Amino acid sequence: MFKIVRREEMSEGTVVLNEIEAPLIARKAKPGQFVIMKANETGERIPLTMADSDPEKGTITVIYMVVGKSTALFKTLQVDDAYQDVIGPLGKPTHLEKVGTIVCVGGGTGIAVLHPITRALKEVGNHVISIIGARSKDILILEDQMRAVSHELHVCTDDGSYGHHGFVTDVMKDILDNKKVDLVVAIGPVPMMKFVSKITKDYNVKTMVSLNPIMVDGTGMCGGCRVSIGGKTKFACVDGPEFDGHQVDYDELMQRLQAYREQEKQCYDEFCRLNR
Ligand SMILES: Cc1cc2nc3c(=O)[nH]c(=O)nc-3n(C[C@H](O)[C@H](O)[C@H](O)COP(=O)(O)OP(=O)(O)OC[C@H]3O[C@@H](n4cnc5c(N)ncnc54)[C@H](O)[C@@H]3O)c2cc1C
Ligand code: FES
Repeated sequence: MFKIVRREEMSEGTVVLNEIEAPLIARKAKPGQFVIMKANETGERIPLTMADSDPEKGTITVIYMVVGKSTALFKTLQVDDAYQDVIGPLGKPTHLEKVGTIVCVGGGTGIAVLHPITRALKEVGNHVISIIGARSKDILILEDQMRAVSHELHVCTDDGSYGHHGFVTDVMKDILDNKKVDLVVAIGPVPMMKFVSKITKDYNVKTMVSLNPIMVDGTGMCGGCRVSIGGKTKFACVDGPEFDGHQVDYDELMQRLQAYREQEKQCYDEFCRLNR
């Protein structure tokens, strides 16, 4: 069993942080990797990126948005409760190299995934400019943490309630117009990653994105997480989750993420009805 030692709610309870006892995973975890977690014996397997890990304490931290039945079930777990299973670390770690100036772009809960990657890219000597965005100020997460691991931080909100009024792509375009940028890292909703990649392609700036297709086993066996990269089929769980943003077929990814929308809604509605 994997005990929760710290729990925080953010974004008006729609985003939850769990620090979990998982000493073996904490010892091996690297930025960019994820775990697959089950709340209980009959629970669904849910992939979540490790937002942090502490090998000395033997803990890992995940930050998840409550979007459906399983994440709603996770939200019911409190400090001292435990997850039945946590497996990992899974996926390839981020390639860490000093390349010069890097723009890290994060949206929504993608910011949680971006945070350890940004920190690691700064630690290897890059100049890191970060841009984070959310629909509104109330649901923006990890601003202070992102500021601490970046040389420069820009904040955007779609409704103008905080920071730049507009999309992260507006600020990114401004930076690309005025500075030499060697790499862009973009993690967030698929449409955000799609538009970041479209812009950076015009500027000829290498771009890395982290993909979130539906996963089942997380070890390359089921094919559930297949994505098309440069016309070739790849499994995000073992070949990724990070890929060259200019090669991703985003429309196919968005279509595949919608595949079980109706069943997911039914499950969530039933869960809410039973736990009212
Ligand atoms: C490598 C990876 C890392 C991720 N990291 C994070 C993270 O750090 N924080 C976070 O909030 N979310 C993360 N996600 C997304 C998270 O796994 C889904 O939000 C979660 O599975 C939703 O489950 P649900 O039952 O609550 O919602 P459901 O109602 O079942 O689904 C809601 C939506 O979540 C997605 N989803 C559903 N089942 C899965 C599944 N088995 N695998 C992947 N996506 C699924 C689909 O897009 C679906 O439409 C990550 C996904 C992947 C693949
Ligand atoms: S999740 Fe099954 S192959 Fe990737």
